[in-house]
Amino acid sequence: MKITVPDIKRMKEEGRKIPVLTAYDYTMAKILDNAGIPVLLVGDSAGMVCAGHENTLQVTVDEMIYLTMAVAKGRRRAIVVADMPFLSYQIIIEQAKMNAGRLVKEGGAEAVKLEGGENIKDTIKAIVDMGIPVMGHIGLLPQSVHKMGGYKVQGKGRVERKQLLRDAKAVESAGAFSIVLEGMPADLAKEITGSVSIPTIGIGAGRHCDGQVLVLYDMLGLYGDISPKFVKRYANLKEVITSAIRNYMEEVENGRFPEKGHSF
Ligand code: KIV
Repeated sequence: MKITVPDIKRMKEEGRKIPVLTAYDYTMAKILDNAGIPVLLVGDSAGMVCAGHENTLQVTVDEMIYLTMAVAKGRRRAIVVADMPFLSYQIIIEQAKMNAGRLVKEGGAEAVKLEGGENIKDTIKAIVDMGIPVMGHIGLLPQSVHKMGGYKVQGKGRVERKQLLRDAKAVESAGAFSIVLEGMPADLAKEITGSVSIPTIGIGAGRHCDGQVLVLYDMLGLYGDISPKFVKRYANLKEVITSAIRNYMEEVENGRFPEKGHSF
């Protein structure tokens, strides 16, 4: 049965953990959906793991629409959440509404994700008021990498901690249906999770969140440019792929492929 935004909210109420993974293309989305993942996040991490950029800042709305469209075609059951890329929601609320709408209308997303807390609460509310569900994102904000001076754990000090609690509350009051907590101490993520009614989805935020998200290429052992401490590798697909390719090369070079059965 199709999973909906209210189903995700209910999972917190029922104490059921929410597994989320990123997806960027049709084939992978189909595999994840068939495996039963309830939420597919078309992350702007695509800029790094698919396009090879140093960070996520160069990703455009048109690129996100293309990736979202591919993911949406591959899923039957899961909710597809599309990241709003840098500069698509920070300037003018009307522009943010238009870009969120394009991700839904042209990309087939069912929800969008924005980075920020109190500073973007009015934007979140405006998008929710259009009928588009919003996933918040606080803590380590990849789109603010230069401001943070790198991908650093946030909320370690007393003042920062209080601000993140206020951010979580602001995102909840603005009407978001869930919120990503990225790169923060586990006890802070636990406190936030206990103080908001919407599900928290952690990444590098410990085990007390209502759900977890990982970048697909990290957990499958495909992307090795950065290996954050919080990533668990569930497979080493880089090795599997390399070995398949070497095997193929050897067979072509030695005339063992194609065989009779592969010919017309
Ligand atoms: O872009 C992304 O993939 C993300 C998640 C990892 C939270 O924002």
